[in-house]
Amino acid sequence: MNEFDAKDCRSVLYMPANNQRAVAKGPTLNADAIILDLEDSVGTEEKVAARLQAVKAIGGVDYGHRVKAIRINSAETVWHKDDVAAVAEAKPHALVMPKVESAEDIIAVSELLDSMPNTDQISIWAMIESPLAVLNAKSIATESGSRLKALLIGNNDLAKSANMQVSSDRTYLIPWFMQLVAVAHAHSLALFDGVYNNFSDIDGFTRECEEGSAMGMHGKTLIHPSQIDITNRIYSPSPDEIAHATAIVEAFSKDENQGVGVLQINGEMVERLHLQMAERLLAKVSR
Ligand code: COA
Ligand code: MG
Repeated sequence: MNEFDAKDCRSVLYMPANNQRAVAKGPTLNADAIILDLEDSVGTEEKVAARLQAVKAIGGVDYGHRVKAIRINSAETVWHKDDVAAVAEAKPHALVMPKVESAEDIIAVSELLDSMPNTDQISIWAMIESPLAVLNAKSIATESGSRLKALLIGNNDLAKSANMQVSSDRTYLIPWFMQLVAVAHAHSLALFDGVYNNFSDIDGFTRECEEGSAMGMHGKTLIHPSQIDITNRIYSPSPDEIAHATAIVEAFSKDENQGVGVLQINGEMVERLHLQMAERLLAKVSR
């Protein structure tokens, strides 16, 4: 069940686990991953019902190829332990942990999962949503154990906890995001960009998607179905990128270029590192 690489997920859609219409819509949507949320989008009175519905949905709704995850409530809350137990019962691909601030936070949840039967395959995806989490991202990536497969940017909580006013170009957040890009790529974790709240602003959303993709993120977390197709397109290689990569592979495969380290294509220097990048991009397309 868990033969997946989180780094292949482009569109990661949250849905409140207690929103039955949204949950039922999941199998018809093109999201690569869905996160049934028990945390911020679920009111206090609804927490227990949402948990039950998440377990039911993971077991009973056929989400096909989509990666399935449940976001639990943080360790400080009264719901936390029962949420972890519900994840252990439902066995989604991933448990999404909010408000992570240290590797110890993840180890604690990982050990809780270890204590429950048949949970080896459940990954942990950690939300980075406070200044301390940004500062600790490296140790979170390296010391949390093997369940950790992805970092998710929690932009709303991050801005709130830093008392930051967020402009449309995310000027003051981006230096923090780039630290996360470095950590994710250095330690082979997936990194998903934060959500775009104004789901009726398609142009603004598209711009932010392009920005995250250009920064080196693997995908974006989403809140509304209207954001899925744009994300999948932007986080997939474009026809121009495919043509360029194909030209690089063809150039290096010519007999006369077998031992060559550098050559030019239409006036542009191309080295063997570009060949590796081109091969990686084409492998993505053929998957
Ligand atoms: N996942 C699946 N389906 C969703 C969805 C989601 N995140 N958001 C909306 N839909 C569905 C709606 O149910 C509706 O389908 P229906 O007509 O069959 O009921 C359709 O898409 C259109 O929705 P729309 O009317 O435009 O929005 P809404 O008022 O139903 O919902 C929100 C708006 C913001 C409340 C909703 O999108 C939402 O809850 N998003 C996720 C919030 C979340 O999980 N936050 C936590 C992480 S930040
Ligand atoms: Mg939050």
